[in-house]
Amino acid sequence: MTWEAVADVDQLEEGEPLRVELGGVPVCVVLLSDDEAVAVHDTCSHQQQSLAEGMVTEEDTIICPAHSSTFDLRTGESVGVPEVPTIPVFACRIADGAVHVDVADRRNDAADPAG
Ligand code: FES
Repeated sequence: MTWEAVADVDQLEEGEPLRVELGGVPVCVVLLSDDEAVAVHDTCSHQQQSLAEGMVTEEDTIICPAHSSTFDLRTGESVGVPEVPTIPVFACRIADGAVHVDVADRRNDAADPAG
């Protein structure tokens, strides 16, 4: 288990996705509130678009910019239409004023979206 700091909380806007790469894995990090951040695989399971280019909603979902698949940012599950496979969710925490992600610690059993 290896936490990696990806950004200071002060540098992030709530609901503004940030794309980072950790150990070769593209990750989409989103600050949902002062005390909650989430991290999902930054690859849409439909046709591999970067989700960090998408839009976060008030329901804490992210809408893919390509064809509007929508994913729950806490579970990685597809919600709405078109329904597509679940995306991986990674362990994410806020500590010492920074957002940390552990890509080795997956919070669901979703397969990596084909790249
Ligand atoms: S690539 Fe994301 S919805 Fe098509």
